[in-house]
This record gives sequence, C-alpha cells and structure tokens, in this order.
Amino acid sequence: KTLRIGVIGGDGVGPVVLQAAQRVLEAVPGIPKPSFVPLQAGFEHFQKTGTALPRETVDALKSECTAAMFGAVSSPSHKVAGYSSPIVALRKEMDLYANVRPVKSVEGHDPRVVDMTIVRENTECLYVKQETIEDTATGRVARATRQISERASTRIGRMAFEIALAAAEVKKQRGGSYGWTGAPTVTIVHKSNVLSVTDGLFRESVRAVAKEYPTVEVNEQIVDSLVYRLFREPEKLSTLVCPNLYGDIVSDGAAALVGSLGLVPSVNVGDSFIMGEPVHGSAPDIADRVPSIANPLASIRSAALMLEFMGYVEPAAKIYDAVDESIRQGKVTPDLGGKLSTEEVTEVVRKQL
Ligand code: NAI
Ligand code: MG
Repeated sequence: KTLRIGVIGGDGVGPVVLQAAQRVLEAVPGIPKPSFVPLQAGFEHFQKTGTALPRETVDALKSECTAAMFGAVSSPSHKVAGYSSPIVALRKEMDLYANVRPVKSVEGHDPRVVDMTIVRENTECLYVKQETIEDTATGRVARATRQISERASTRIGRMAFEIALAAAEVKKQRGGSYGWTGAPTVTIVHKSNVLSVTDGLFRESVRAVAKEYPTVEVNEQIVDSLVYRLFREPEKLSTLVCPNLYGDIVSDGAAALVGSLGLVPSVNVGDSFIMGEPVHGSAPDIADRVPSIANPLASIRSAALMLEFMGYVEPAAKIYDAVDESIRQGKVTPDLGGKLSTEEVTEVVRKQL
C-alpha cells in the first residue's frame, strides 16, 4: 500500500504550513511511506496563468492521489474578472460534501474545556454563488440564490451522527474527565424561524436521518443564539451540524476559544476522497515574514485528521498528542505568545514523534 498525497499549497502562508505537515507525515510511525505530488491552484497562479484551478490539478487528484492537503488561497474581496475561489470549486469538483472541523482545547493548558466538532455542509447554501445585480429606479439591487437540498442536508446529517458516535467512543476510551461526558449529541444549527423554507428543509432532513441513530441525542439551536452559547458555555457543545455559511462563521468563532485560527484543522470529506485543510486563510499580514512565523499546527493537525479519516487512527492520535505537548511546553509561534518560527515548531512536533 502506498500513500500518494496531493499537496496544493496555494497562496500566502499556505505553502509553508503544508511543508510542515509533510515533514510530520514523513516522521509519523505506522503509515506507509508517503510520497507527495505538488499541485497548483490559487490567486497567484491565476495572475500568472489566468486559471485559478488548473485542470491538471483536478486530474492529478482524481487519477494519482490517495488523498490531499490544501493550504490556503487568497481571494480578493472585490470582483476580479475570471477569478473564482479554487477551494470552493475543488470541493464541488471532488464532491467533498462535508467539512469537518474539530475545535479542541489542550488538556492541562487551556483554562476552558472546549471539545466540539463543527460539521459544515460544503457544497451549497449561498456558496452556489449565483449572484445577480440589476439597476432599478431606486438604485442597484443585488440578489443571491441560497440552495439547500434534501440530498445534501441528509448526507451531511448522516456524517454528523457518525462523528458524534465516534467522538463518544473516544470519550469512553479516554475516560469522562475531558470535555462533555454525556451521550453522543448532535445540535442542528439553523435559522428556520426566519428562513422556514431553506433552513426548514435543512432541519427537517437532518431530523429525518436522526431516526437511524436512536442512541444519539438531537438538539437544535438558532444560529445567533448558538453563537451566544458558543462564547458563554462552549464546554456544553459537542457535534454541531451547519449549512455552509453558518458553519464557516461559527468555526472561525470557535477557533477564537482555543487561542488561534492557526490551531484549528479541518478535513473535506467525500465518499471517495479526503482532503485535509487548515481552517485559516492565507494570512497576508504575516505571509512575508522571514523566517516564517505562521503557526503550522492547524496544518499538522489537518494532516492527522486526514489520516484519521483514512483509517490510520493510531498514527493520527500520535500526531495530536505531539501537537498538544508542544503547546503545553509553550514551544509555539507568536500568535500563541511564543517565540518560535514555523520550522522550529515543526521540529518540536517531529521530535515528539
Ligand atoms: P486569515 O485566516 O488568513 O487570517 C486571519 C487572522 O489570523 C490574521 O491576523 C492572520 O495572521 C491570523 N492567522 C491565520 N492563520 C494563521 C497561522 N497559521 N498562524 C498565525 N496566524 C494566523 O483570514 P483573512 O485575513 O480574513 O483572509 C486572508 C485571505 O485568505 C483572504 O484572501 C481570504 O479570502 C483567504 N481565505 C482563504 C481560505 C481558504 O483558502 N480556505 C479561508 C479563509 C480565508
Ligand atoms: Mg472560513
């Protein structure tokens, strides 16, 4: 068995944090020796070639890669003719319909216990990007289509229930002292009090799946009050299932609870492909620093998450433990109050392995 990992560094800090992830994958015991396929995508690539996501990248992922890692891409906030975010396109192209984002505090380090997983629908909602603008008598009016389908909501619901069960199993094995201790729980995040048709369908579809999982408790919460709760009592939240936009926003908010966006990993999951990706973006404000001070831990944890979803549970756990240990020891980058560079932190993690 071989592991051929497509590596799409992208823009800004993307390439440097993915290099860190590669070096950790090379060091972790218990997996086949990985090989890496460097692939292009991003705004810089677009400026050079006119294409943000080259066909060769998608083809290589489909034909030669076992899985992939994605760094980050810069997307300008104004419209650039011909440009559209390659990560949004890639998720659709590879049908990576779930974005799974665990946000966890480090035991014995963070004052607050946070241990939640945000399961974000990854293919629709406002991200179908069907926007129009028209001139009217009173000025311009812009509109966006928000698509919620039963199929996408059902499969993201099923993913959330599976993750809740798996998380509860891990809790049982590690003992109940860490994080929430109750039965597996899924909280449906929506706004169907206002958007009763779209969010209504999301809520109903996830609730319909719940019948297949009688041992999982189902809650629901309106997205704005969920954010309130996220800051007031995050220790009570476990698995959240969200339509695309709410999931995007809630997970950056949750990242603040554990100290830095530079810590939070994610994995894009489809039925036949897995792609790890840190939650953060290209961090242009620190991207030019030499030596790099970008926190590599989100990417390193994303590599572990990728392994976990491929079935390499033990090697993944080793990486998580090594990352936690480097945080406990304060051997971290400036975003966490430390003094180390990207490379030095990576070395600390590798040594733990
Ligand atoms: P960002 O996540 O890049 O940065 C937000 C803040 O967090 C910045 O202060 C940054 O320095 C810090 N930060 C992020 N990652 C870090 C790391 N690894 N280590 C230390 N500090 C880190 O979000 P922002 O600034 O809103 O967006 C910048 C660009 O990234 C935009 O062009 C945006 O479109 C793109 N972006 C891309 C994403 C992706 O490729 N999946 C996701 C989010 C944003
Ligand atoms: Mg985001």
